Amino acid sequence: MRSKADVAIVGAGPAGLLLDHLLHREGLSVVVLEAKTRRYLETSPHRIRAGVMEWGTREILVQVGLGEGLLQNGYEHQGIYLAHAGELRRIDFPSLAEGWRIWVYGQQYLVRDMIARFLEEGGEILFEHEVIGLENLASAPRVRYRTPEGREAELEATFVVGADGSHGRMRAFIPGLSLKERVYPFAWLGILAEAPPAADELIYASHPRGFALFSMRSKTLARNYLQVSPEENLEEWPEERIWEELNLRLEGVAQVQPGPLLEKSLTPHRAFVAEPMQYGRLFLIGDAAHVVPPTGAKGMNLAVADAVALFQAFWAFFKTGDEAKLSRHTETCLEHVWQGEYFSYWMTHLLHTHPDPFREGLRQAEIKQVLASEPLQRFLATNYTGHHTTGRWVGTLA
Ligand code: PHB
Repeated sequence: MRSKADVAIVGAGPAGLLLDHLLHREGLSVVVLEAKTRRYLETSPHRIRAGVMEWGTREILVQVGLGEGLLQNGYEHQGIYLAHAGELRRIDFPSLAEGWRIWVYGQQYLVRDMIARFLEEGGEILFEHEVIGLENLASAPRVRYRTPEGREAELEATFVVGADGSHGRMRAFIPGLSLKERVYPFAWLGILAEAPPAADELIYASHPRGFALFSMRSKTLARNYLQVSPEENLEEWPEERIWEELNLRLEGVAQVQPGPLLEKSLTPHRAFVAEPMQYGRLFLIGDAAHVVPPTGAKGMNLAVADAVALFQAFWAFFKTGDEAKLSRHTETCLEHVWQGEYFSYWMTHLLHTHPDPFREGLRQAEIKQVLASEPLQRFLATNYTGHHTTGRWVGTLA
C-alpha cells in the first residue's frame, strides 16, 4: 500500500473515477479512497441514478478511452417528448441544438466500467476505507483513514480531491464554506421495472395529477417516475397503484405495460451550491460541491465537467508548475454549475404541478408558451444536450 501519491481522491463515483482515469493516463500517481464496498457502488438497488448523458459527456468519455461499455450497451436519442393536455410534442435535438443529441446509459453501469478499467490499468482504489481526518491542507496534505480491519493509516499527497458526494464530509474541511440551498416542494417516486419503455424516447408528462417521467435503461427495462409529495409514504404505493397512476398521467398520449418491479424509491428534490470549492490543496468536484433536482438529468454531467476542469488545472501544475488554473477552480466550475442549476430549476418548475395555485397558474401559461415557441424549444434542446455545461469542455483534452 502506497503512503504517498500525487493526488488522493476521496470517493469513487463518476467525478472521482473520471478524474483518476485522466490523471493516471498522464502517468501521475493517484489513490482513490472509497468508504463503501465495490459491490454497493456497482449494484445497490437503493441508489436511484439518472441515465442520461449530455452529448458532451459522451464525447469526452469516448475521447479519453472510456467509451467501450457505453457505446456497446447505450442508446442514442435524438429527442424527448413533452406531454401536456392530451398532446404529445417531440423536441427534436439535432435540428434545434446544432446537431447535438443525448446518450442513454445508466450511471451505475458507467461507474462499473470505470472501476474495472482503472483496476485493469494498475490503478489503486481502496474500497471500505474511511477518511477520518485531513491535515496540513495549506501546504503538504495528509489524509488519515481507517482500513476495513479498523487500522488507522496515513497518506501524503500533493493534492486532495473531495469527490464524496452530497452527503460526503470533505466539504466540511473548507473554512468559511457557504451553501446556497433550495428545497423544492416536490419528490419523485421512482421505479425500475422489467417492462417495455412507454416510448422510443423519454416522455416528460405534465398532468394535473402531477408530473410523470417515462425513461428507460434498455428495451426491456423501464425507469419511470411519479411526482409525489416529499412526505409521501412509499408503503402506500403498492405496484398496482403505481402503474395505474403512471397510466392516468399519460392519459390520451400513450400507455405503459406493467411488469415486475426491481426497485422503488423516493427522491426529494433539492439543490445546493457550495462556495468556495477549494481551500489550500483541497478541491471539491461533483455532488460534494453541488446537487440539482433530477428533472434535467444534469447531476452526472456536471460531475464530468468539474472533473475535466480540475484535471486541466492539475495537469498545468504538474507539467509547468503553473497554479493559475488551480487558483481559479471555484470560478471555473461555478460557470457551468450555475448553468446546470438554472436549467434544472427551469425544467423542474415547468413540469411539476405546484402546490401554490398562483405558481401553478404561471406554470400553465409557461408550458403553453414552450409548446408554441421554437426559440423556447431551442433553449430547452441546447441546455438539455449540454451546450452550456459539458459543452464547454468538449475538445479541450486534446
Ligand atoms: C433516468 O432515466 O433515470 C432519468 C432520465 C431523465 C431525467 C432524470 C432521470 O431527467
